[in-house]
Amino acid sequence: TDGDKFIDGLPKCELHLHIEGTLEPEMVFELAKRNNKALKYESVEKLREVYDFENLQSFLDIYYDGANVLIHEEDFYDLAFAYFKKAHEDNVLHAEIFFDPQTHTDRGVEFKDVIDGLTRARIDAEKEFGISAYYIMCFLKHLTEEEAIETLKQSIPYKDQIIGVGLDSTELGNPASKFKKVMKMSKDAGYQLVSHAGEEGPPEFVSDALDILNVERIDHGIRSLEDDKLIKRLAKEQIPLTLCPLSNCKLCVIDKMEDFPLQAFLDANICCTINSDDPSYFGGYLNDNFKCVNKSLNLTLEDLQTLAKNSFKASFAPETKKEEWI
Ligand code: ADE
Ligand code: ZN
Repeated sequence: TDGDKFIDGLPKCELHLHIEGTLEPEMVFELAKRNNKALKYESVEKLREVYDFENLQSFLDIYYDGANVLIHEEDFYDLAFAYFKKAHEDNVLHAEIFFDPQTHTDRGVEFKDVIDGLTRARIDAEKEFGISAYYIMCFLKHLTEEEAIETLKQSIPYKDQIIGVGLDSTELGNPASKFKKVMKMSKDAGYQLVSHAGEEGPPEFVSDALDILNVERIDHGIRSLEDDKLIKRLAKEQIPLTLCPLSNCKLCVIDKMEDFPLQAFLDANICCTINSDDPSYFGGYLNDNFKCVNKSLNLTLEDLQTLAKNSFKASFAPETKKEEWI
């Protein structure tokens, strides 16, 4: 359709993407072979069949299991470079990409190998595609704050390669207060702060991320809509939300795409953005997310333009870059 063509041509930023969530089943098999790792699944098709989730946790179990094939520096390079190629095809000019060091260091992989592979891919992609990218290191909420502090320490020698720190993984049972100290330490170390909140958890989890952790951007935040006062605050303070429509459908945060409450966020003048979260697991990259939402919600071209503009506005790129892109 015309909308699809418009979306293809629209320059945009990706602000909520887990690099481990771009691991396609084909690459799982390739890396398993290269690294002599046995897999529980007999084929790519059989692996794809288990990508049927009922909530966040049922997804996370599969996602952490998949990451076991990532071992060497070149594995992280191949993973990230493949993503950059896809992102460039979607007319993504800039990406701010999450990585979960603990998922790897807990298995004996060196922090250095993770960040070196990712960084080398970023530099090569910048040269080959002209795409710009930053990395955001996430602490896993299901682990302890002490473990997050240990990871923060490991990151310091590489802090020039990392723009910020985020919090992801299991939301329920892991409130913002659990990570107050490590997030303050991260800010003091020069990192920008973001956090997943209000995906499965209630709106208070979003306010707590703002008040207790002082994050600058909320990842998901879809459940903010249950609190009028919070919605007014997000609009007034122009706190960006990185929404992920296909993710919300696949993890049963919403029943169907027609229920994705994008219009409510737009009407409230909130700086909302569209993102792909874990595209290999949720059925599509950034333009697939835009197209799906556009089709289900009958957006106007102006809405699509607003969403793309918001993505530049909400990014951590320098103002001069933003002006050039917008
Ligand atoms: N890790 C990867 N994707 C995630 C999501 N949608 N929510 C929380 N943690 C995640
Ligand atoms: Zn996420």
